[in-house]
Amino acid sequence: MDFMDHMLITEGQVKIRVPTFEKVSSRAPVFYNPVMELNRDLSVLALQQFKSEIEKDLNICDAFGGSGIRGIRYSKEVSGVEGVLINDVNPQAVALARENSLENDTDNVKVCQKDANLLLRHCKGKFNVVDIDPFGTPSPFTDSAAVNLPRNSMLAVTATDTSALCGTYPEPCIRKYGSKPLKTEYCHENGLRILAGFLSLSFARYKKFLTFKFCHSTEHYLRLYATVSKGAKKTDNSLKDMGYIAHCPSCLNRKVHYGIAPLIDPRCPHCDHLMRVAGPMWCGNIQDPDFISGMMDKSEKLVLNQRKDAIKLLELCKLESTAPPTFYDIHTICSKLKISAPPMISLLEGLRMEGHISSPTHFTPTGIKTTAPLEVVEKLIESLVKQREI
Ligand SMILES: C[S@@+](CC[C@H](N)C(=O)[O-])C[C@H]1O[C@@H](n2cnc3c(N)ncnc32)[C@H](O)[C@@H]1O
Ligand SMILES: [Zn+2]
Repeated sequence: MDFMDHMLITEGQVKIRVPTFEKVSSRAPVFYNPVMELNRDLSVLALQQFKSEIEKDLNICDAFGGSGIRGIRYSKEVSGVEGVLINDVNPQAVALARENSLENDTDNVKVCQKDANLLLRHCKGKFNVVDIDPFGTPSPFTDSAAVNLPRNSMLAVTATDTSALCGTYPEPCIRKYGSKPLKTEYCHENGLRILAGFLSLSFARYKKFLTFKFCHSTEHYLRLYATVSKGAKKTDNSLKDMGYIAHCPSCLNRKVHYGIAPLIDPRCPHCDHLMRVAGPMWCGNIQDPDFISGMMDKSEKLVLNQRKDAIKLLELCKLESTAPPTFYDIHTICSKLKISAPPMISLLEGLRMEGHISSPTHFTPTGIKTTAPLEVVEKLIESLVKQREI
């Protein structure tokens, strides 16, 4: 391949040639997005942590390889990798990934050009990590990942169709994920949960169930890491974490309803306004604090350009790991109450003193996750604001 109009970029421990670009575009001859460096840094940490939890070496499928940067970083930066298969349907991407792989002296990377669905179905059981990083939605590929992955494996998925998952365009979300989204202050969390629920149902068809280890919403994308286990009974049991979230647009009250066809009261118990319902979605855990701690420990030994942001994100995800679904946005509550917002730290501490779980959240700096009901949060906000006025 002619590298005349290419540029050399350094990420982690690798140097990669990518086509020169002025604007990131899926129409580029080979796709590369510098904003995803944080995503790739976190992926390296997640795979290293996963490796430390299983006995086997990793066989990784980077099914949407682009320039090869992700797969090459896995090969060079994660220890205990037996092989990485970098795949892309675009022949120019495949040629560039081959060149990049050679230039980085990888000894365990193979590159191939296939449609990801065909590759995953053809190589059933050959990988213990599958990374799905397509343009837009992963939904046409998750069934093949579910067929492919054996027990004790890891699935990593990116979705960039946040406008659908987070409720700006509900119809595409229903079409792609079989779930109704809702535009609320916590719509990015709902988006992650809709994707997690969709993945869990896809895997359930093959008597496989997912345990979510680390999930985040950053910039324009959502990213999930889950381990795969097998067994019909355990899969049935895991699906008990599927459910719906009913939201009152008038008073901001919300309630989680577990089950695939639960009884949902159409009226808000607080103000009698009609509730709006989102789902089905995953209402169980989406963060595993031990896994995330492991990722933070592993970061000390690795060269990461985005270390500071990666650690900040991991700390927040760990803090919110024990809190229930949804969060309150302090500014939204305060504008409803027509008062100014109290300091976050006082609110978090106040809720804890009253015996509730409370944490900040990575979704937004003005969000609070808590087990406290809305009226308790509102009362505390009002009393904190009054105290400040005295
Ligand atoms: C978002 S880019 C991947 C970026 C890359 N993982 C990275 O971290 O830089 C998506 C890639 O998927 C490829 N692609 C699109 N449809 C595909 C399919 N059906 N099978 C395999 N690759 C596909 C595109 O050519 C593109 O290179
Ligand atoms: Zn209400």
